[in-house]
Amino acid sequence: MAAPRSITRILKSLPTSRNACSYHRRRSRASWLPAEVLAKRYSSNTATVAAAAASPSTEQTTSFPSPSPAPSGGNNSIINKQAQTTSDLPLKTYNVTKADARPKLSEHHKITFDEKKTLVPWEEGKTSHFQHVWMRDHCQCSECFHPETKQRVFDTFSVPKNIQPDIVEAEEKGMKIKWKNGGHESFYTWEWLHLHSYNPRLERYISPQFKFWGSEIAEGPPEVEYEDVMGSDAGVGEWTRKIRKYGFCYVNGVPVTPEATKELVERIAHIRHTHYGGFWDFTSDLSKKDTAYTTLALGVHTDTTYFSDPAGLQLFHLLSHTDGSGGQSILVDGFRAAKILREEDPTAYRILSNVRIPSHSSGNHDSSIQPYAPFPVFNHHPVHGELILVRWNNGDRATMDRWDDPADVGRFYEAARAWNDVLKRRENEYRDQLVPGRPLIFDNWRVLHGRAAFDGKRRLCGAYISRDDFMSRFVMSNSKREDVLKAL
Ligand SMILES: [Fe+2]
Ligand SMILES: [Zn+2]
Repeated sequence: MAAPRSITRILKSLPTSRNACSYHRRRSRASWLPAEVLAKRYSSNTATVAAAAASPSTEQTTSFPSPSPAPSGGNNSIINKQAQTTSDLPLKTYNVTKADARPKLSEHHKITFDEKKTLVPWEEGKTSHFQHVWMRDHCQCSECFHPETKQRVFDTFSVPKNIQPDIVEAEEKGMKIKWKNGGHESFYTWEWLHLHSYNPRLERYISPQFKFWGSEIAEGPPEVEYEDVMGSDAGVGEWTRKIRKYGFCYVNGVPVTPEATKELVERIAHIRHTHYGGFWDFTSDLSKKDTAYTTLALGVHTDTTYFSDPAGLQLFHLLSHTDGSGGQSILVDGFRAAKILREEDPTAYRILSNVRIPSHSSGNHDSSIQPYAPFPVFNHHPVHGELILVRWNNGDRATMDRWDDPADVGRFYEAARAWNDVLKRRENEYRDQLVPGRPLIFDNWRVLHGRAAFDGKRRLCGAYISRDDFMSRFVMSNSKREDVLKAL
């Protein structure tokens, strides 16, 4: 039986373990922080060094799993495959060493160009090939690239197809090209050329260095001080850095009011409104009989699996809990749990990386939110193949009625059971009681949350922030703007 088309397509598009890791073979040479912040090399050597110094050297940092290789040949059902050995599914650990040196042009070879391209030889022994049409399109001058808006204002299609340089010259800081047909002059710094070299690609992909955790994180969970976050962008930088690294963070000393909590959230970004509203503040009270906000135990899950773009961050602030007890919150590091599943049961990992699960939110009578397409539990980056998003909410799964091979049904449930087992292990759960004045914020793309049953009356407030807004604030509060722009 043929695999469902969508699944076949996914498999074809997923990097195999070999190509997924071709970027990874090279060791990261920058610290976890600016490496990710800047996405590309050279962005800020000083920031890199500073951050490397700031991160404890004893800390074990681990990259997250890449998807399994696509099966080939034989049975077309994607999930009816032999379990692979874990050696087929490498998990990489990146070492933090030192910042990169600036790129240098070769002293022994000259820049040359022919009809189609300019060749730039580097001291490291590699030569970048830049096609003329690409170079002209990427002219960095203020006529072509708006200095304020950072947008291209040049009409790419106004230049002749076979645009040619008249003169190409190496200068101290970079390369100048004077173009034929009008004599427009372009200048590209060595740093920019090296960073954006595409043939070959010289930029090293640097995996984010997450700190994975289990129940032991209870001994020293990440936290920041309210005063610091409210008082400076450096405070926000520390906060977003911890959220990114650990997947969650507490804020100490927050006034126990919805107003102060909202202001706190907005230090990162504007609140993401949903069909439940924007900033929420509710009392969980049995008399209300609100099924959305009961006092029942909730298994760990991620929120908004029914969005095409699930909420990036979620903040909870317990304002009060009276006339009862219980309601411990439970967090599970989803990236670490995925890694555990992948090591123990690669087949289950592959299944949950490929089977698309429909989901919905239809409790409100006037809406039925559904993503534009069903998504798997483990979602990988389409370019570098690393796990970037865990979607898991057993309650929000819609009917799974698209199976090419009915035998896949049983395989899916086996895989989901194995995943559920990993999530429920005591050593993977971080349990803590929320207290007033100490909100919890977590990365909903990585960390699953749940809570124990409770009685009495709790008042909670909180909000979502979109992931793009969070990442923007994280990057901008941890690096120089010019460095971020350079890497664009
Ligand atoms: Fe939730
Ligand atoms: Zn220009």
